[in-house]
Amino acid sequence: MHPMLSKSFIFIFVSSCVVLAHSALADDKKVDPKLFPPPATKEGVTYATDIQPIFEKSCYPCHSAKTEKPKGKLRLDTLELTLKGGEDGPALVKGDSAKSVMVAQICYQGDADDYMPPPKNKGNIKQLTKEQIGLIRAWIDQGAK
Ligand code: HEC
Repeated sequence: MHPMLSKSFIFIFVSSCVVLAHSALADDKKVDPKLFPPPATKEGVTYATDIQPIFEKSCYPCHSAKTEKPKGKLRLDTLELTLKGGEDGPALVKGDSAKSVMVAQICYQGDADDYMPPPKNKGNIKQLTKEQIGLIRAWIDQGAK
């Protein structure tokens, strides 16, 4: 084969690999809110009474004044800071838990690098339960008060 031709074959081969790898990654990122645990039926869910205790146990070790550098510049130890979000901006949409990034992350959907708490962590903090996720969803759906 002419050297120029074989070079272009290598180029085409490498480009197809890149495209394939990319589409595999895109698949990994798919988020399907239908697979999230349903919102809790409880009414009047608030940060202070229902959410803060969950965050304290499962998120504060990395996202509060307890750590010198909160991960992703996100603090979850006050309602105000929680709503403000981290380096990527707000992680929730008031009134719409299905569209809230944070909910996909705690449901372990989408990009595995963003699962929260990270599946492997020093403190061995476990994934939130369906009940806890349901409460967080209800809280967001009710306006994140
Ligand atoms: C063991 C440490 C650890 C725990 C526990 C943890 N996170 Fe994280 N979190 C991280 C790290 C590290 C990042 C930054 C990831 C990055 O920048 O790629 C992050 C980033 C985030 C972000 C994105 C912030 C931004 O704007 O970039 C959200 C939202 C988040 N975490 C929510 C939570 C929630 C909710 C909990 C508790 C249920 C939690 N995390 C528990 C380590 C943790």
